[in-house]
Amino acid sequence: MLAIRSGGDILSCLTAIPFIIMREELNGGTFEMAQAMAFFKGNVVPIEQANVSVMTHALHYGTAVFEGVRGNWNADQNEMFVFRLREHYERMLRGSKVMLMDIPYSVDDLCDITTDLIRSCGYAEDIYIRPIIYKSEELVANLKLHQLASDFALIVVPFGSYIDTEGAIKCCTSSWRRPDDTMMPTGVKLTGLYTTSILAKTEADLLGYDEAILLNHDGTVSEGSGENLFLCQNGRISTPSETSNCLLGITRDSIITLARNELGMEIVERHVHRSELYLADEIFLTGTAAHVTPVGYLDERSVGDGDVGPVTRSLSEMYNSVIRGNHSKYMEWCTPVSLGD
Ligand SMILES: Cc1ncc(COP(=O)(O)O)c(C=O)c1O
Repeated sequence: MLAIRSGGDILSCLTAIPFIIMREELNGGTFEMAQAMAFFKGNVVPIEQANVSVMTHALHYGTAVFEGVRGNWNADQNEMFVFRLREHYERMLRGSKVMLMDIPYSVDDLCDITTDLIRSCGYAEDIYIRPIIYKSEELVANLKLHQLASDFALIVVPFGSYIDTEGAIKCCTSSWRRPDDTMMPTGVKLTGLYTTSILAKTEADLLGYDEAILLNHDGTVSEGSGENLFLCQNGRISTPSETSNCLLGITRDSIITLARNELGMEIVERHVHRSELYLADEIFLTGTAAHVTPVGYLDERSVGDGDVGPVTRSLSEMYNSVIRGNHSKYMEWCTPVSLGD
């Protein structure tokens, strides 16, 4: 069996790690085993046994609803903290309703399945948790959601930083537009919807940018390819509203709460014009994968002085402490998972 030493925080993209990972413990110099396991068809199995058929409906038509959740390893406390697990599953089940998907699990069941799988895998490092509800019927040429069976699967992988850059990033306004909610349910993390994000991210990367900002069909700002967007001008923070076709991010909600409670700042949810971005003092992106990511350049213009601004810096520091279970006031957002249990 192949044994791989875990690289920890250097993964910059979601990577399935097959087989068994050897992990060196800091204390004592011993090796422990972490295993790549999945929850698949109702059971916990080694990841290489969690396979779907080439006939699977979701593979052909993008008929799946998923989540991205982070487990943040706190080395001082020797504990994993899963950030806002319930809220992720609540959003996923809302999305499954839109897509006429039924699975036999409640939010509580899904949380339990997740914490059990994290313990089974045993990664003592930051992880990405990917649940998916998908149209599992092995059938093509049927576009009637109500006739197609659904299933739930879950994987957990080691995961470091998503946007591989130090400090503020460079963004471009994408030539792709965010679909309108009249075309696709934009508040649902629907796999089919991510084609647009992937085209935009690919274009940005090939052009030498770190991230793409997508506009709506009417030219107002929607969001990043996988993040919500905030701008700060004259001490006022704004973010595109729910009717701007953006995903209502759980990080977005957390940042709105932290800005209000801890900085005493109001965040206005509204329609944002493209040119406002060029005049902003600060812009930052938020998302489970991207955390709080400062934007230093947009379309060859510097944002503020091109460096990380003070509001972004303080929200980012606060957020990083909250998600790792280091902020007593926000512990209800964190589900602790002890690997020794
Ligand atoms: C398109 C899009 N917008 C926003 C977000 C941020 O959402 P959250 O903070 O819930 O991760 C994501 C994250 O997956 C996303 O894919």
